[in-house]
Amino acid sequence: MARLNEVIEIIGAALWFILPAYFANATPVVLGGGPPLDGGKKFIDGRRVFGDGKTVRGFVVGIAAGTAIGVLQGIAKGPLSHYLLLGFLLALGALLGDLMGSFIKRRLGIERGGALPGLDQLGFVIIALLLASPVEVPSWQVIVAIFLITPALHLATNFIGYKLRLKSRPY
Ligand code: CTP
Ligand code: MG
Repeated sequence: MARLNEVIEIIGAALWFILPAYFANATPVVLGGGPPLDGGKKFIDGRRVFGDGKTVRGFVVGIAAGTAIGVLQGIAKGPLSHYLLLGFLLALGALLGDLMGSFIKRRLGIERGGALPGLDQLGFVIIALLLASPVEVPSWQVIVAIFLITPALHLATNFIGYKLRLKSRPY
């Protein structure tokens, strides 16, 4: 059995590590919008490639926000180059994971904004961790913590976003 202070330390390390991915995922909800990444194009199945929920501006602001968090982490803890790269890769991974999620949802016939439980909450962190892995792989305990914390945090922040009328759906 792990002791309580060890658990708290692991949760802290998990939040610290994955923070750029969280900001990359959340910023487009506030600052995204405009022309869709897929240019309105349909896939061979007749449905949208990604849909109107994945925009060029969302992609750009998401990567910028996540990278900025990495820079702040680098200033706070250093080395800057390490955290800059990590922040960028986590942000890019979060956005690509989110995009892949929408691609899969459209192929399953789920319209923009429809839910695919599991993928919606964890797809972005899985791809973020994969892209960041050449630079840093957290301990398995930290990875487990990320997978346990993220769905709860994702649902909670989305509900807050819904209440603030930033999102049209509470999940
Ligand atoms: N968003 C964006 N660009 C992105 C990702 C998100 O502009 N690359 C914005 C969109 O306004 C989107 C909102 O953030 O509606 C919430 O993101 P998300 O829940 O991922 O999109 P959904 O609208 O639910 O669409 P999907 O079903 O494709 O996930
Ligand atoms: Mg959604």
